[in-house]
Amino acid sequence: MKFKKILLTGAAGFIGSHVYDLFSEKYCEAEITILDKMTYAANIRNIPQITTNKKHKLIVGDLTDMDICLKATKDIDLVINLAAESHVDNSFDNSIIFTKSNTLGTHTLMEACKRNEVDKIIHVSTDEVYGENIEEPFSEEDPLNPTNPYSASKAAAEMIVRGYYKSFDLPVIVVRSNNIYGIRQYPEKIIPKFIVNCIKKEPIEIHGDGLNLRHYLSAIDFANALDLLSNNGKEGEIYNIASDLELTNIAVAKLIKSFFDYEIDLIHVDNRPFNDKRYYVNDKKLRDLGWAPKLNLRDDLPKIINWYNLNHFLFY
Ligand SMILES: NC(=O)c1ccc[n+]([C@@H]2O[C@H](COP(=O)([O-])OP(=O)(O)OC[C@H]3O[C@@H](n4cnc5c(N)ncnc54)[C@H](O)[C@@H]3O)[C@@H](O)[C@H]2O)c1
Repeated sequence: MKFKKILLTGAAGFIGSHVYDLFSEKYCEAEITILDKMTYAANIRNIPQITTNKKHKLIVGDLTDMDICLKATKDIDLVINLAAESHVDNSFDNSIIFTKSNTLGTHTLMEACKRNEVDKIIHVSTDEVYGENIEEPFSEEDPLNPTNPYSASKAAAEMIVRGYYKSFDLPVIVVRSNNIYGIRQYPEKIIPKFIVNCIKKEPIEIHGDGLNLRHYLSAIDFANALDLLSNNGKEGEIYNIASDLELTNIAVAKLIKSFFDYEIDLIHVDNRPFNDKRYYVNDKKLRDLGWAPKLNLRDDLPKIINWYNLNHFLFY
């Protein structure tokens, strides 16, 4: 499908900036608007084309503002909603902003999409909405069982999205992805945090015993999955997006440490109030459409570390 007018919310943040890279290259004739509140996690340097490409524009605004959402979605044929408060640890301290941005913000955007009759919407959710699992992978039909304020706000957003699909035929697809890695991620999340610790020769702090498992998927592979679903995904459906690489938090720390030629201490600190042991999802439905990850963390780490070596000062 050729999209002529695309809206990306939250694209001045980590994942959205990679989606913007892909979509601005692939849909080079399209007008692309980014709607972003420009929180601490956003950076204008993540989206340099916004200032040079005359067909692109940035609206600095909050997803909870209906006037802004109505303006941003006018005449748009594809919306990808990536805007969110995204850091679980922050949600234990100040969870209200998570409900406002992630739940009310999504609701406001869906209402604006409905009023402006947007043709297609991809809503980016997370594997965390399922809660933890140990043995059997979650498929898209499994019930939601969020365990922290972040994942609860994302699950609540999904319920609203579902209601808009059922009640109003809103043409929306939901994606639930594993953890994403790549450059430009704010160094509060595990991979960039540990990299910056190593660059600054600081100890790496491990939550609890460090044996919690997470899968890691490249932001570039994720952007490709969103592109495929924008074109071939079925409205009203949910798609898991999984990675083949699963590591404990300790294994992530040891892997990152191994790229530095000096010793870095690992220290154990108090665990999160609740820390899901594992998120394991089955993404056969997406892979049947022809998607599979092409990149992997081990091969990508040298260039990611190099990027943080050059750019980590941008985050302070
Ligand atoms: N990072 C991951 O591993 C991961 C995994 C699965 C799903 N997700 C989801 O992917 C999406 C993007 O995550 P990310 O890691 O890039 O997050 P991020 O924190 O790097 O970026 C989020 C962006 O949203 C913007 N934003 C926040 N609140 C807003 C609001 N009220 N109005 C407008 N803009 C607002 C921020 O300014 C920022 O640019 C989120 O919806 C997140 O839940 C992330």
